Parts: sequence; structure tokens; C-alpha cells
Amino acid sequence: MKSGRGTAHGKIILMGEHAVVYQKPSIALPFFDAGVTTTVKQSAYLDLSCDFYQGLVTEMPELLNSVKAAIQTSLQELGHEDATLHIDIESTIPIERGMGSSAAVAVATTRALFDYYQQPLSQEQLLAIVNIAETIAHGNPSGLDALMTSSNQAYRYVKGQPFTPIQSNLEATLVIADTGKTGQTKEAVSAVKELMLQSQYQAKIQQLGQLTIEAEQCLITNSAPKLGQLMTEAQQLLTDLTVSSPELNQLTEVALKTGAYGAKLTGGGRGGCMIALCSDEQAESVNQSLQQAGAVQTWMLPMKGI
Ligand code: MEV
Repeated sequence: MKSGRGTAHGKIILMGEHAVVYQKPSIALPFFDAGVTTTVKQSAYLDLSCDFYQGLVTEMPELLNSVKAAIQTSLQELGHEDATLHIDIESTIPIERGMGSSAAVAVATTRALFDYYQQPLSQEQLLAIVNIAETIAHGNPSGLDALMTSSNQAYRYVKGQPFTPIQSNLEATLVIADTGKTGQTKEAVSAVKELMLQSQYQAKIQQLGQLTIEAEQCLITNSAPKLGQLMTEAQQLLTDLTVSSPELNQLTEVALKTGAYGAKLTGGGRGGCMIALCSDEQAESVNQSLQQAGAVQTWMLPMKGI
């Protein structure tokens, strides 16, 4: 039987979340330990199954509005608005944890629909469709999540500019910890938008941009302790911008006390995941401390060769 398949993976923002919405630079990595696979088959209706829902696409709950938009936009572009298909989504990316789950689901599903109809899908067309979906999920997306969940390499990204691969010589390990609390990217993005009416917060976004520029140099020169320091400074600015949370603050403090070079939230914030940059030797004990402090899931990502 005819079928289509599409995949995508998670992403980790090393530096620049929120500031990237305001044309400041960001650095992000693909995260292959968590991913999404969508399969598409012929059906009597246009329906979908995933961990949260089984039923008609037209009756999907609000939580799934972004994937609904990806499906409808893809089918329009393919000229098959009236298609009757079964779309099955399987994901290991924790939902609403700053790992790009909503963008990854939209990427995998768009790819699967184009694959089903055996139509070519350029990266530009994919990003345009996913950004329509992300606008519904996040209000004012920078495009970073769409790019990172569909690309296989680390990028420096500035909204509206060509993205450039990161040249990194860093030898260190990134420990990623999930607070277990869902993040609130949409709310956090709109709270920052409100704060940006005041010059003191505009200055903080400006500083976040500057830290990202310095962080890129640290990747090139393999300066892990300095990069860690910049990450901790970014965490303070993100806290000032109201996008951290008590759980994120607690885990970043635990990581620093256990010898991490630096730590910060990653992604939209107000819940979700944090990252701690560690020497390869220290990573395991930071990882264990984060688990003991209540992280529901942790990952260790060697940065060598990213
Ligand atoms: C969300 O993963 C990252 C944010 O910067 C929003 C965006 O870039 O669209 C908070």
C-alpha cells in the first residue's frame, strides 16, 4: 500500500533564545537523541493518531492546532485539500520542554505528506510551511526551531539572514535536564514582547545578543570555562526577562555547585529544560546531581565534533 514517511529531531538552543526573536544572533544544535516519525497512509477520512489524540484532523484539540496548520497548508500546496489519509505521529521529544517538539512534529508531518505524494520539498518550502504552524504555536516565531529540527548541523542563526554552520572546536559535555514542568513558550514570548516596550529590557536583549557573539568565539577557541560563564550570565538576563522558573533556577544552581562551567535554561523557558556545560570528566557527577535534585530526565551530549 502507498505510504509516506517523514522524520525530524529535537533541538537545543545553546545561546540566544528570546533575543533571536529580536534579530539578535543565536546558536543552536540538532538533538538526535529525541525525534519524531510521521507516517501517512490511505484512509476513509483525514484522521490522525498521536499520544494525545486519535480522530479526525478537523476535530483536533487546540493543543494540536500547529500540526493541523502544517497538514492543511501542506495539502493545499500539494493540491490535495480533500485528501483522506491516516497520519500517525510518534515522538520521543518531550512536549513543551524547549526541545522544539511542536516544530519537529510539523517538520516530520510536512515531510511525510510530500513523501506520500512523491513531490519534492525544498528546505525553503518546508521552513515556510513550518513557520505557519509555529506562528500558531508560538505567536511570533524566529524560525530557529523550524530550522534546527530539520537540519543536521549546528547553526548560528539571525532571523531573516542566511544561517551559517558553526565552526566549533569545543571539547566539553552538555548535560541537559528536564524539569518535568511544561514550558510556556507562547506566554514567555508575549511577556518579553511587552517588556521590550521599556528601554531597560531592550538593553537586556542587546546584552544577550552580545553574549552569543562571545559564545561563538569560545566555540572556535575551545574555551569551555569562559563559555560556561557566558551561559550563566545569559541565565541571569533570561531570569530578569521573566522567562525562567523556580525549577529551572534550582537545577542551574545545582549544576553550578556540582562543578559545571555554566548553566542556563534552553528554549522558551518558564519550565522545560536546562543545560549545563561541563568538562567531560565532571559531566557524570553533574548529571547525577541533577537527577537527585528532581530532573525527570537527563541527557549527556558530547560537544566534540558538533
Ligand atoms: C523557542 O524554542 C525559542 C524562542 O526564542 C522563540 C523563537 O525563537 O521563536 C523563545
